[in-house]
Amino acid sequence: MKILITGASGKLGSALQTVLRPGHDVIGTDRSTLDITDYAACGQLIAEARPDMLLHAAAYTDVNGCALNPQKALRINGVGTQNLAAVTAQLGIAMLYVSSNEVFDGKLGRAYHEYDAAKPINAYGWGKWYGERALGQVNPRHYIVRTAWLFAPGGHNFIHAILHAARRGSTLRVVTNEISNPTSTNDLAAAIGTLIESDRYGTYHLVNEGAVSRWGLARFALDEAGLADTAITRISSHQWQRPSRPPEHTPLANIAAASLGIRLRPWQEAVREFVAAEAPG
Ligand SMILES: NC(=O)c1ccc[n+]([C@@H]2O[C@H](COP(=O)([O-])OP(=O)(O)OC[C@H]3O[C@@H](n4cnc5c(N)ncnc54)[C@H](OP(=O)(O)O)[C@@H]3O)[C@@H](O)[C@H]2O)c1
Repeated sequence: MKILITGASGKLGSALQTVLRPGHDVIGTDRSTLDITDYAACGQLIAEARPDMLLHAAAYTDVNGCALNPQKALRINGVGTQNLAAVTAQLGIAMLYVSSNEVFDGKLGRAYHEYDAAKPINAYGWGKWYGERALGQVNPRHYIVRTAWLFAPGGHNFIHAILHAARRGSTLRVVTNEISNPTSTNDLAAAIGTLIESDRYGTYHLVNEGAVSRWGLARFALDEAGLADTAITRISSHQWQRPSRPPEHTPLANIAAASLGIRLRPWQEAVREFVAAEAPG
C-alpha cells in the first residue's frame, strides 16, 4: 500500500514510519513539507503523491497552547483535518485520523465506548472533535482512531518528566483525579497498521489496556525505574492550575477494534518495557 503520513516527525508519526516502512511504500510529511492549514498545498501534494491511504497524525498537541490560542487550535486540528478530508474524498483516497480521549467531558463514570457522545470541555478537545466531524461527513472511507496519553522513546512525555524530576531530587506532586490509558506509540502504530488492512471503516479506540490515574502511572514508573523510595504527594487537579482544563475520567474502551482481533497489551507491560529501555537522564 502507498501511505502518506502527516506529522511524520512527531511522536506517533515517527513510530508509524518505523512500523509501516517494511511492508509499505511510506511517504512522511511534516510541517516544512505540508502545512495542513493550506488547502491548496494539501490538494497539490496529495494529488501528486496519489497514496492509497492518508494517515493523519499531525496536530497542535500543546493543550495549554490550544487553551491560550483557541483559534489556532481550531485552524490546525479542525480546519486542517477538514482540508485533508476534502482532498482525500475528491481523490477517492482512504483516510485515518488520530483523535483523542479529550473529545469526551470525563463525566460518564465508566470507560467511553466508541459511540458514546463526545462533549469536549477544552480548546484542544474542540479542535479534535471538529476534525472528527469533518472527516466523518466528508470522506466515507475513513477511520477515526481515538487514543490517549502517548509515550514514545526519546521524546518528552509525562513519564520522562516524572523520572527526570525524581532523579533531580525535585518534590513530586501528581494529580489523582485524571484517569485514562497510557499508550505506547509503538503499540499504537502496530495496531493502526493492522486496522488499515481491514477496510472496516469507522471509529475505534486504540489504547493500551487498562486505566490509571496520573499519580498511579507516576508511582508505577518510579517503582519500575528503581526509585521506589521517591515520594509523590497526591493532589487534585484544582491544585495544579494550568491553562487547559483536562477532562477527569476518560478511559477508552476498545470494543470495535477488539471485534476485529486488534487489542493492545496492558499498559503496565508497555510502561515496564519503556522504562527499562530509557537510559537514566
Ligand atoms: N500525545 C498524546 O498524548 C496524544 C493523546 C491523544 C491523541 N493524540 C493525537 O495523536 C496524534 C499524534 O500525536 P503526537 O503526540 O505524536 O504529536 P506530536 O509529537 O506533537 O507531533 C505532531 C506533529 O504535527 C505537526 N504539525 C503541527 N501543526 C502542523 C501543521 N499546521 N501542518 C503540518 N504539521 C503540523 C508538528 O510539527 P511541528 O513540530 O513543526 O509543530 C508535529 O510534527 C495527534 O493527532 C494528537 O492529537 C496525542
